[in-house]
Amino acid sequence: MQTIQAGNRNRLGSPKLFGCEKPEMLGSYEVACADAFEWLAVAKPNSIHAVVTDPPYGLVEYTPRELEKMKNGRGGVWRIPPSFDGCRRRPLPRFTVLGTREHAALRDFFSRLAQSLLPVLVPGSHVFIATNPLVSYLVYEPFIQAGFEKRGEIIRVVHTLRGGDRPKNAHEEFPEISVMPKSCWEPWGLFRKPCQGRVQDNLRKWKTGGLRRVSQEQPFKDLILSCPARGEERRIAPHPSLKPQAFLRQIVRAALPMGEGVLLDPFMGSGSTIAAASACGLHSIGLESNPEYFQMAVGAIPRLTAYVPNEVNSNGSKR
Ligand SMILES: C[S@@+](CC[C@H](N)C(=O)[O-])C[C@H]1O[C@@H](n2cnc3c(N)ncnc32)[C@H](O)[C@@H]1O
Repeated sequence: MQTIQAGNRNRLGSPKLFGCEKPEMLGSYEVACADAFEWLAVAKPNSIHAVVTDPPYGLVEYTPRELEKMKNGRGGVWRIPPSFDGCRRRPLPRFTVLGTREHAALRDFFSRLAQSLLPVLVPGSHVFIATNPLVSYLVYEPFIQAGFEKRGEIIRVVHTLRGGDRPKNAHEEFPEISVMPKSCWEPWGLFRKPCQGRVQDNLRKWKTGGLRRVSQEQPFKDLILSCPARGEERRIAPHPSLKPQAFLRQIVRAALPMGEGVLLDPFMGSGSTIAAASACGLHSIGLESNPEYFQMAVGAIPRLTAYVPNEVNSNGSKR
C-alpha cells in the first residue's frame, strides 16, 4: 500500500475558494493506494468523523477489462456518447445494462461498505454518498439495515449533454418518444451514525451530529445547483467520474460541522473530495485501489485545491 501525506495547514497564498471562509488555511491530507475494504478492516474504531464519497456503481466498470473497453471505445458497461457541436463527450457508465445478478451484487457491496464504515465512524458522523436515480435504493436499504439513520437526500441539479433517452435504433420511427426521463439531477444519500445522547451532547463530545450551516442565517439545504466538471478541472484530473469543486466544497464543509475531525473518501478517484476538503481547511484521508488513478490523484489534489471555481448555473453557464 502506497501512502502519501501532505500539508499541515500550509499557507499557500489566498486564492478565492468557493464556500471556504479561511482560504489561506489548507487542510492536511493523507492518501493511500489501497482497497477501501482492506483499509477499513484494520482502521482504528471511532477515528473518522465524516464520509463524502462517489463509489463505483457497475462494480465492474473500474475493472481492468471494462476500463480497456472504455479506452477502445467499444462494448462493455461504458457508453461513449456521440460528439456534439464538435465537442467530444466523456464516457458514462450504463446503469440500464445491470441485471438481477448485478443488482444483488450492488446490494451486497453497499451492505459490506455500511458495515465496514460503522465501527470506524464516531457517533453522529454523516455519510454523503453519490448515487443515481436508477440504483439509489440498492444503497439506501443496506445502509439503513446496517444501523445508519437516513437523514435526507441532497439533490445535485446538473444538466449534462447526455442523450440516450430515445428508443435505441428506432428513434426515427418514434420521434416523439422518450424511454425514460432525461436525468437533470444526481441524488446524494445522506446518512448518520446514531448520536450518543442528544445532538448537543454529541457535538460537544465528538464534534459531529449536525451539519455546518452556510452561514448563521442560512441553513445547509438539500438542493444544490451544480454543473458538470469541465475545462480546467477536467484537464487537471481526467477521471471519467470527476465531480466539480464548486459542488464538493459545499458538501465537505457541511459534513464536518465544527470544522474538526477527519473526513474520509474511500473511493477518491482523482482525489477531488480530498482537494475540496483541503481547500476548506479540513483534514482528510483518501483511498483509491487503481494505481493509475491513485497517481492521478497525487498530482491533481494540490492543483484542484488551488483551483478557483466560477459560480455557475446547473447547465454550466456563468451567473
Ligand atoms: C466513481 S469513481 C470516483 C471518482 C471521483 N468522484 C473523482 O472526482 O475523481 C470511483 C473510484 O473508486 C475506485 N475503486 C473501486 N473499487 C475500489 C475499492 N475497493 N477500494 C478503493 N477504490 C476503489 C475506482 O478505481 C474509481 O476510481
